[in-house]
This record gives sequence, structure tokens and C-alpha cells, in this order.
Amino acid sequence: MRGRLATDFERFGRELPRDFAGYVRQTYRIDLTARYLGYDLPHPFGKGSGQLSLNTDQLETDRAAGLAFVVLKTLIAETAAGERTMGAWAIHETRMAVERRLSLDGRDGWTVTWKGRGWDRSLSEYLGLVRAGRDLTCAGPDGMLVVPSVKYHLPRLGEPFIEAEYAHTTAQLADAWGDAQLPIEKDFSPTLAGDPLADERDQVLRWIGEVPGRIRRAAPHGARVQLKLMNARFDDAFQIEMLVAARGADGVTAFNRLFDSERRVAYGGWDLSDRNLRVLDLAGERGVAPAGLSATGNICSGRALLDYARRGCESGQLHTFFQLPLSEYPATAGSRTARALHALVFHPTDGLIVGMLELEEQGVLARHNGELRFLDLAASHFTEAQKATTEAQRHGEEHS
Ligand SMILES: Cc1cc2nc3c(=O)[nH]c(=O)nc-3n(C[C@H](O)[C@H](O)[C@H](O)COP(=O)(O)O)c2cc1C
Repeated sequence: MRGRLATDFERFGRELPRDFAGYVRQTYRIDLTARYLGYDLPHPFGKGSGQLSLNTDQLETDRAAGLAFVVLKTLIAETAAGERTMGAWAIHETRMAVERRLSLDGRDGWTVTWKGRGWDRSLSEYLGLVRAGRDLTCAGPDGMLVVPSVKYHLPRLGEPFIEAEYAHTTAQLADAWGDAQLPIEKDFSPTLAGDPLADERDQVLRWIGEVPGRIRRAAPHGARVQLKLMNARFDDAFQIEMLVAARGADGVTAFNRLFDSERRVAYGGWDLSDRNLRVLDLAGERGVAPAGLSATGNICSGRALLDYARRGCESGQLHTFFQLPLSEYPATAGSRTARALHALVFHPTDGLIVGMLELEEQGVLARHNGELRFLDLAASHFTEAQKATTEAQRHGEEHS
């Protein structure tokens, strides 16, 4: 297997087959099937919302490379009169800097420094992108799942939600999507985490609890709602409280970037994945097992994704790894997306295939009908988390 992997790594570095997941299944007997928001995916690698999902050219490049899914840039919701309470997030900024970032414990990673925020063009332009995304989603094996992302009004405690933003924006998106249930990701961003609006814990928990129902009610054919939770400026225990509050959502993306309050910018790198993995560990220990977990944060190798999968994540959303200088990818041809996928899946020491083969050797993964299955990792984590809940409940009963 390892000899074969070395050969595949070498030749796919010149051209990655679009259906590499089919090839992996046939050749290595590894089923990479993954899941996002209830959709089956050929493999777990997708693109997180941001500057790399702004137009149809980017979508077409990703589809051609064989990416599993894309979350579109976050739209800022508006009323029928065009009013936006979160208008401060719709600012225009083009310059991004891909930089090295040293983590607190001294590891060298990558981050993208950028002062912009949400979608800065019109709602009607966004709807055009959503229609193109829906066509790709419906195109079967030649297509790719594409999901819109939105930031809606978030009130202070005691104040009502501005329904007109939820109603108008969701109805417009649903209309662009057509007759099926609307898939949608709701972004709680790092700049929101850094905003005085997010200073109140109860206020944040109320948003997370109430937003999924509000979006669903505003969508004529219903909606599947993924909440992309932020790294709040509170402790790890609060991250767990947010996961618990999100139980009404169809899925949770964990967790958006950290906020550097001195430089007033969001950042990633190893500090981000360390925190996310630590919180997901804690969630498992406490028996909190959110449905539809999707990972985000410093996924720069197949191994990094496996770290998230072993904590319950069924897919991963990357941004930074699709932006590195070309010299950082081992492939010598193809789009950045194709070069990134090549390294993520086929790298002989850090890729997904070698990582799964190692987990088999360690007895963590077992074959079913001769196949290793990516989704078994998340499923077994949930069983462990449920065992932890039962154990905690039993412990509680014994002491009461
Ligand atoms: C330049 C940039 C813009 C982003 N914009 C958004 C956004 O509009 N909405 C959102 O939900 N996440 C946004 N993100 C977060 C990414 O989708 C992703 O979750 C995060 O960067 C962590 O993944 P990474 O470590 O692979 O970059 C952005 C990230 C970057 C770097």
C-alpha cells in the first residue's frame, strides 16, 4: 500500500483525477464518504466561507478540481427596504496577507490577515451566485455541493429580533434555491466575538438557541441550518455551553478563527486548532455530541483533519491552506485547490490515506466488508461521548 501511495503521490502531483475518491476506494479499499448538513460527500474536504467563494469562476475551478463542497462568502442580511442592522460587516477590503504565525507554544503555522468582513456587493448579485451554486449542487457526480452563508440581525438581551431581515433575506435565498429545502450556514464570526455585542454570555446563548428556528420559519420549503460558532472571548466551558445551545441546529461548524484584540484582526494557525480540538475533547468528556459537526481551523494536512474526525467531525472546511504560496504544495501543476487536495489526500507521511492506514494498524479503525470508512471515526466518537453521558448520569444518580 505504501509503495502504491508513493507512486500515486508522484504521478497525481502532475494531474489529480477529479474522482480521486473513487480511485482511493477501488485501490486502497478506503471509503472516504463524508457528510455536511445531511448531504453525502465523496470525501471530507470543503472550502470554508470567505474570499475564495465570491464568484462563479472560483466555484468552477473547485468543481473541476474535485472539491467536495463550498460555503459561499457570508451575506449580510437585509430587509425589503434594504436596511441592514449588521451593515458594519459589509465593508469592502481586497488586500489579504498570507503570513507565518507562531503559536503560543512556538510552532510555526500559517494565517491570513485581512481587515474585511462580509459580502460587500448587492443581494441580487449574491442571489445569482446562489443560483449557480444550486445548479452545481443538483449536477450529480459532476457537480459539487454549494451552500450560502448569512449573518442576520442579532439583538441585545430583552430586545426583539428584527424579523424583517430574517424574513426577506431567507425568502430571497429560498427562491433562488428553488423547490428544495434551503441549506444555509449562519456565521458567528471572530469580529463578532470581538464586538461589544458579544460581551454578554446569555445574549450569545439566546442567539444560538433561537436563530435556527427563525431561519426555518422564514424559508417556504424549510431550511437545514448549520451554525458556524465563533471562538468567544470566554473560557472553554462557554464553548461547550454554545454547543449545548446549538442543539436545535442541523449541524455545527466548529469553530471560527480567534480574535486578536490588540491588532483587531482574526487569526488562525496552531493556536486555533489547539483550542478547537481541546474544546471538542471537553465536549466528548461531558457527553456533549452535537449533530452534524464540521471542522474548521488550521486543517493543513490529512492528519489534521483526522484529529478533528476522531472528535466527531464528519467533514472539514479549509480557507488558509488554499491560499499558500505555490512553492508550499508538493504538486507541480493544477489549480491551488487541486494541489491542496493532492497533498491532503495522497501525501505519504501527512495525508489522509496514510493516516487512516495507521489508525487501522493501531486498532482504531476496522475494515467492514474489506473497507476502511472515514465516517466510522466520527461515529465511534459519538458512541464514546454517549457512554460518557451515561457514566456521568449514573455517577450523579449514585450520589443523589
Ligand atoms: C480572508 C478570510 C475571510 C473569511 N471570511 C469568512 C466569512 O465571510 N464567513 C465565515 O463564516 N468565515 C470566514 N472566514 C473563516 C474561514 O471560513 C475558516 O473557517 C477559518 O479561516 C478557519 O480555517 P483556516 O484555518 O483553514 O483558514 C474567513 C477566513 C479568511 C482567512
